[in-house]
Amino acid sequence: MRISVLGTGYLGATHAACLAREGYDVVAVDCDPRKVASLAAGRAPFREDGLDDLLRAGIDAGRLCFTTDLHEAAGADVHFLCVGTPETTDPPGRLDLSALWGLVDDLAPLLRRPCLLVGRSTVPAGTAREVRDRVQRSAPAGPEVSVAWNPEFLREGHAVADSVDPHRIVVGTEDAADLVSLREVYRPWLDRDVPFVTTDLATAELAKVSANAMLATRISMVNVLAELCEQAGADVDGLVEVLGGDPRIGRDYLEPGLGFGGSCLPKDLRGLTASAQDAGLAVAADFLRQVDRVNDHQRSRTVALATDLLGGDVRGRRIAVLGAAFKAGSDDLRESPAVDVAGRLAGAGATVLVHDPAAHDVPSDRPWQLVATAAEACTDAELVLVLTPWPEYADLDPARLRRRVRFPRVIDARRALDRERWQQAGWQHWAPGVDAATLPADHRSVATA
Ligand code: UDX
Repeated sequence: MRISVLGTGYLGATHAACLAREGYDVVAVDCDPRKVASLAAGRAPFREDGLDDLLRAGIDAGRLCFTTDLHEAAGADVHFLCVGTPETTDPPGRLDLSALWGLVDDLAPLLRRPCLLVGRSTVPAGTAREVRDRVQRSAPAGPEVSVAWNPEFLREGHAVADSVDPHRIVVGTEDAADLVSLREVYRPWLDRDVPFVTTDLATAELAKVSANAMLATRISMVNVLAELCEQAGADVDGLVEVLGGDPRIGRDYLEPGLGFGGSCLPKDLRGLTASAQDAGLAVAADFLRQVDRVNDHQRSRTVALATDLLGGDVRGRRIAVLGAAFKAGSDDLRESPAVDVAGRLAGAGATVLVHDPAAHDVPSDRPWQLVATAAEACTDAELVLVLTPWPEYADLDPARLRRRVRFPRVIDARRALDRERWQQAGWQHWAPGVDAATLPADHRSVATA
């Protein structure tokens, strides 16, 4: 079976490499020549554990190739559509399908033999049928082309592990023959007893945005509880342990902090909100909007606390921000809560020095400065904020760092630090879910604002 993977972001590149690992011949296509050159040399142009090794193994075995030429993919039996569907900017909050439509329009006239198009991109329900209609419109005399949907659930930084050993494979089809083809493609996974969920097209299309909206809802819920804990003098760690001990609730995605970011959770939540709104489901749309609002509130209250700790005005004040990536283990700054908070503080006039161990590709128009070490960021700082929970920040020596800063105050917005250790070293420490009564009196109002 010949397979093409169209679009080589972290999803497509990983999928192509994993298919080659299972013995398939895979041609992967992307319109970005720099990305293709890097992947063809066995180097992913983004941080993804284990991917470079997998790429090199596939390329060296002659089973995996990368190209910008879509013609080279035209002869495949199965085409995986893996292009990005970012959030629209105008109006905001929808999934931008223009790359998908561009790809389908370009591919359809090239197809010379019956084949199966398998969508993996995150899309609203109804997209698969539109793909099929569009293929027919673009190439009315073309071969028979079916469309199936096969959403992915990969986490950045764990994409290889999540691809090799997924929790489940979801496949939405309209035709029994397409299901047979996809069972064949995923045979190596089925042989490893990976659950294979078969469904209709709309359910498969909804699966990804629903899963991400569910994860986002859990995170916002635990952040609401953390705020309640602060006021009640309760311990959010204990509360999460109690909740997580119930197998119906589970422990995952209950880490309170600065809220969710990244290229998927925020946009998928908003995409689902737009779908609910379009369907006239006002209550559903309001509920989902509230999850986003709670998420934004984590950033606002962190900025408010920082401002309060600096006496109500951050203008000209020196602030250290530790962490820029949207999560530890990633160099991705997209929708990063840390970048947002650093930007809001710098926008209000603070001098913000940011450190991150992985993120180097920072936008040139940023209002803050990226520095090479955490120590450099903290030198003479009047306030330190830990905004991405990199393990290296947990390993910092608070006593040594204390000698660098102007005032030993830290907002541990991701709960990355050992509170007792930092307090013993003389630091004033604040973290979400920590008793508001432990804040200095004039800062307690922030928690209730
Ligand atoms: C997510 C989904 O997990 C994945 O299944 C989907 O395919 C893509 O979107 P990813 O964007 O890599 O993956 O991020 P994830 O690890 O899920 O974290 C998302 C955000 O939530 C991060 O900003 C993280 O810091 C935050 N988070 C996560 C919390 O604030 N609390 C938690 O308990 C878990």
